[in-house]
Amino acid sequence: MAAPKGIMAEKIRVQYENLGVTGFYQTHGATYRNPHEKQIHALLVQLATQLNFSSVLDLACGSGEVSSKILELGGNISGIDPYTADAYHQRLGLTAEAISFEDIANGALVGRHYSLVICSFALHLADTSRLPLICYHLANISPQLLILTPHKRPSIKPEWGWQLETETHFERVKARVYKSVYQEVTEL
Ligand SMILES: C[S@@+](CC[C@H](N)C(=O)[O-])C[C@H]1O[C@@H](n2cnc3c(N)ncnc32)[C@H](O)[C@@H]1O
Repeated sequence: MAAPKGIMAEKIRVQYENLGVTGFYQTHGATYRNPHEKQIHALLVQLATQLNFSSVLDLACGSGEVSSKILELGGNISGIDPYTADAYHQRLGLTAEAISFEDIANGALVGRHYSLVICSFALHLADTSRLPLICYHLANISPQLLILTPHKRPSIKPEWGWQLETETHFERVKARVYKSVYQEVTEL
């Protein structure tokens, strides 16, 4: 029987404390699964009419919790994650590029273009000192950003290039849609 979600979340928190975030995903990345996938999928369906799924960057894509639903909804997806390529490939048969938040802050995505960036259960793991630069680079490659999170964090400021458009939730998972101040949203 699957462990109750509260216990899973508690176990992950303890593991973060013991191994650090990097150590945890280096050790467990290949077998990572998100127990809140049902809520993630429900929110993606709910928001489908206000988001452009034509070319989605699944940032910190884990084992494909977001990507699997985007594909099912007829969208195109590119996954990036430094630690979970095996889990992502095992599930979707796709390759996740090993690009980290730190790489993004250093300009790894400059020159690319996506219709939407989705970061689910992950951006709060980025070092807060790097968040402004990560957000700035993301706002230059995509007109829309969707953050899925069970927390208040990450806290994203308008001066980092993103304006909050809508916030909704399904059970305890929140969905925040942001609009880039640098890029125009094209057809939906
Ligand atoms: C809680 S999981 C979320 C995965 C997936 N997006 C989901 O919704 O289930 C956090 C993800 O962040 C990734 N991650 C951890 N540190 C990272 C870093 N420094 N840069 C980019 N991704 C990182 C992990 O590999 C993991 O896939």
